[in-house]
Amino acid sequence: MRAEVSLEAPAVPGVGPLPLTEREFSLFQTLVEREAGLHLGPSKQALLVGRLSRRVRALGLASFGAYYRFVTARGNEAEQVRMLDCLCTNETHFFREPEHFAFLRQRVFPEWTRRAAQGLMARRVRVWSAGCSTGEEPYSLAMELLAHFPPGSGWEVEVLATDLSTWALERARQGLWPVEKAAGIPRPMLRDFMLKGTRSQEGWMKAGAELRAVLRFARVNLHDERGWPAGPFELIFCRNVLIYFGAEARGRALSALLRRLPPTGHLFLGHAESLTGSAEPARCVAPNIYCAKPAPAPGASAT
Ligand SMILES: C[S@@+](CC[C@H](N)C(=O)[O-])C[C@H]1O[C@@H](n2cnc3c(N)ncnc32)[C@H](O)[C@@H]1O
Repeated sequence: MRAEVSLEAPAVPGVGPLPLTEREFSLFQTLVEREAGLHLGPSKQALLVGRLSRRVRALGLASFGAYYRFVTARGNEAEQVRMLDCLCTNETHFFREPEHFAFLRQRVFPEWTRRAAQGLMARRVRVWSAGCSTGEEPYSLAMELLAHFPPGSGWEVEVLATDLSTWALERARQGLWPVEKAAGIPRPMLRDFMLKGTRSQEGWMKAGAELRAVLRFARVNLHDERGWPAGPFELIFCRNVLIYFGAEARGRALSALLRRLPPTGHLFLGHAESLTGSAEPARCVAPNIYCAKPAPAPGASAT
């Protein structure tokens, strides 16, 4: 097993919220949107105070103004990473939005099998969970994929799991969750892919070796395409992430995600999200599921 790291949220001592002026809030709004694409609307002042006050106190700083100067000082990128860790909302669960997994089983996997049998597709698929939080989404994808294309079936699958939050990503890497999280996992998959913790891991559930073998992890900022993995990915899950972005940043990220799909690939967004703002042509094939639309051939009229 990997070396143990803390399973707690970034812990900082101190008590009570610090006051935040309008000017300070505006500075953080600009910083967070520039660095991570995240839009902090006026209603997010309490969130910022709630999540950062302890950190500011722990550093021995007297105000948010002082923290802003600290976090933006040259050479203090590590603090910026830590600040973004605190501001990210990491809520997730296994097999969230189960219709998406049903779509894989009923539409995508049979299509892959048919195309592979006709020699139209290699039996190798890459999948990207972009904004994977603590791992429930990419491990759900890995379970679904391995249940249909098990090792030895001739198929090779890889699930790339990325997030901005280093804290969430480390938890995803560990593949260890409280057993209560198992409630969302279909029983046969729970039996086949998860291990029950014993002794010091009593009350915990751990991803088994088959799952771990197909997962890769990386810190990727969806607001900065320069650091993105190269495509193509047959499936991209980017659910409940861009909902926190400003409109312009969201549109740019969506376009870049669509460019990483092959013509047969699918992009999955969260239930409250759409492709609004994206400049790339795409078509909706089921609620919140999209395919990239190939550009029309020269001379052809657009539909
Ligand atoms: C609400 S969780 C969604 C997790 C999962 N996709 C799901 O639907 O259950 C949103 C995740 O997006 C991540 N996130 C926020 N801004 C990001 C950015 N600029 N780049 C990459 N990930 C980001 C957060 O750290 C968080 O883990």
